[in-house]
Amino acid sequence: MGTVIFITGVDTGVGKTFVACGLASLLRDLGYRVGVMKPAEAGCAERDGELFPEDAVRLKEASGCQEPIENICPYRLSEPLAPSIAAERAGVKIDIDHLLAVYNEISAQHDMTLVEGAGGLMVPLLPSYTYADLAKVLKLPLIVVAANRLGAINHLVLTLEHASCKGLRVLGYVLNHIESPLSLAAETNREVLANLTAAPCLAELPFLENMEAKKELPPDWFKERLEFSFIESVLNRR
Ligand SMILES: Nc1ncnc2c1ncn2[C@@H]1O[C@H](COP(=O)(O)OP(=O)(O)O)[C@@H](O)[C@H]1O
Ligand SMILES: [Mg+2]
Repeated sequence: MGTVIFITGVDTGVGKTFVACGLASLLRDLGYRVGVMKPAEAGCAERDGELFPEDAVRLKEASGCQEPIENICPYRLSEPLAPSIAAERAGVKIDIDHLLAVYNEISAQHDMTLVEGAGGLMVPLLPSYTYADLAKVLKLPLIVVAANRLGAINHLVLTLEHASCKGLRVLGYVLNHIESPLSLAAETNREVLANLTAAPCLAELPFLENMEAKKELPPDWFKERLEFSFIESVLNRR
């Protein structure tokens, strides 16, 4: 069984897929076999008569993971809602045992598997079962991604507090500039957070112009900006 990291966020649209893909391509470039998983993806558009899980496909491409997309993303849902309610409205039953079986298969075959959540820790996969519960059952250490803007301090500290209440291990957090221009809050968040939490800031990522055109960032782009020693420490724990 390889190492697994759960990439969660303080919200939807904060850069979880961006960070997970960057980490996946970096690890792949370093010669690791990288597995990926997106247990449920909601808001999938239809393509050729099938629901297309954009995040899962991006994760697969960045990592080079050979698993079929049905395993990487077992639950593909059309409505842009929390997976529990998107599934309920589509008449789909999310089966945690099935997720665990697929997870075991993927993580067993890779040195490092990255699992991307949906939204944040308290988003429900089942009506009374959240991503935090899944991370707890699988004993997954977390990377928490936050959009670096006004509000990030509260969102991040609440997420870290909840992780701690659940007994989840947090490797650290990433501050991601998804907005331009840089706000005063974005310039000062890192310093404020350092006094509020013991969790390390693993990276502060700059805003990229024409982000869509830059999906294929060179692996070194992340290596230069990431506290890489934390990944080595997780990999060496195996
Ligand atoms: N550093 C960045 N600079 C510019 N745009 C970004 C950056 N990080 C993410 N984005 C954009 O923000 C949007 C949300 O990012 P995404 O990784 O899909 O978030 P999540 O997975 O948390 O929903 C995407 O359109 C993505 O291209
Ligand atoms: Mg995503």
